[in-house]
Amino acid sequence: MKDKVRIAVLVSGGGTNLQALIDAQMAGKIPHGEIVTVISNKEGAFALERARNAGIEAVTILKADCGSKEEFEDVIGDSLEFRKIDLIVLAGFLAVLSEDFVKRFPNRIINIHPSLIPSFCGDGMYGLKVHNAALARGVKVTGATVHYVNEITDGGEIILQKAVDILPGDTPATLQKRVMEEAEWKLLPQATEIVCQKILKEISADEYL
Ligand code: GRF
Repeated sequence: MKDKVRIAVLVSGGGTNLQALIDAQMAGKIPHGEIVTVISNKEGAFALERARNAGIEAVTILKADCGSKEEFEDVIGDSLEFRKIDLIVLAGFLAVLSEDFVKRFPNRIINIHPSLIPSFCGDGMYGLKVHNAALARGVKVTGATVHYVNEITDGGEIILQKAVDILPGDTPATLQKRVMEEAEWKLLPQATEIVCQKILKEISADEYL
């Protein structure tokens, strides 16, 4: 019987959330999963360095090398299937995945978003834009959300959320840092372990069919 879910982490940037996952894995906090590959759609993303430093395979797949978005997603999907990936974690992956891609991996893709969904999310809402919008609206509390990925941007089932206070004098950058430190880096490993346990149960139930 399978005892660990094979995880792929998809990244585009610095990879602090990837680092949180790697640290959690090393600390034994994701006992039911194993990060087996990290895939970046940006050349030279520092996240790739983090993966290599941890002895994890680091792969770059560029849309420019694939042609269309469809072909790009086919290459990513085929790479994931080739590696027998059970769970895809989007950790700062700055490409919106199509409905076709999502349907290829139903309930097997999760994402972290730096706000309390359904606030400050959806198409075009990423990075500092999210924190900018929260500050502009004057909310007193924001946070982070880990959710399943479906065909609606940031619209899938919510797995975990954590609130973070907005403090007087916050800028988008200070808020981003607090949301990462207090919410994202804790939430993503926790949610990953929860989903790994769920997937293992599904796999073992299927084995009895
Ligand atoms: C994070 O804020 C995450 O919530 C969002 O993109 C950012 C990625 O940061 N989806 P990092 O690359 O993990 O440092």
